[in-house]
Amino acid sequence: MTHMKELFDADTVAKAQELMARYPQSRSALLPMLHLVQSVQGFVSQEGVTFCAEQLGLSEAEVSAVVTFYTMYKRKPCGEHLVSVCTNTLCAALGGDAIYRTLQEHLGEDGQPLAHEETAGTPGEPGSVTLEHAECLAACDLGPVLQVNYEYYDNQTTDSAVALVDALRRGEKPQPSRGAPLGDFKSAELQLAGFFPEDEDLYRSQVDGPSQAPETLMGARIAEERGWTAPVMEDVPLPEVEKK
Ligand code: FES
Repeated sequence: MTHMKELFDADTVAKAQELMARYPQSRSALLPMLHLVQSVQGFVSQEGVTFCAEQLGLSEAEVSAVVTFYTMYKRKPCGEHLVSVCTNTLCAALGGDAIYRTLQEHLGEDGQPLAHEETAGTPGEPGSVTLEHAECLAACDLGPVLQVNYEYYDNQTTDSAVALVDALRRGEKPQPSRGAPLGDFKSAELQLAGFFPEDEDLYRSQVDGPSQAPETLMGARIAEERGWTAPVMEDVPLPEVEKK
């Protein structure tokens, strides 16, 4: 096993300790700490499991149980970019299934379609792309959608999705439909761990960005135009909760 200090340097250890200090109980920092590990390695390796366990005083079995439960923690090295295609019901019916199948074929090699969480190119190298199908990405009004490193690309077609992954393979970073500009998987993981640029301008240019879409706001806009409001909440007593 590679020496832990080579994989997780003093800066990463300091960040891990900063995460622990954010919670009354240090073990609560496990989820962001796993994202921190992914920001370093591009996935959660066995060494990453050991690192978290040692930092938090947990067993490796406890950490592994969490890693294998959540789909955002990857057990195999990820590409520079993670492309998540929504194949949940609404997007699937609108073309998400066709987009996923097309990208599998397009990114595969030697007639072999790319499987879920497999990578085109060498993981970690520029232009490498890991493909996955995802459950509802919470943008059904803009379906079919896909995400790259969790940034949205709305209203996709098979052609626009192929053009997008081709651009990523060439090293380009097409602008998402909304939200922050596209970075790479590891930098997105650092943000998910809760670390952002301290410089205000850098923060505004790298992390922040208007994320609302007209489609999403349409109901609220129509209600405002017509003066519709939600019924006033009556003072209804909450049901008794049985004490344990
Ligand atoms: S079904 Fe695709 S975003 Fe909800």
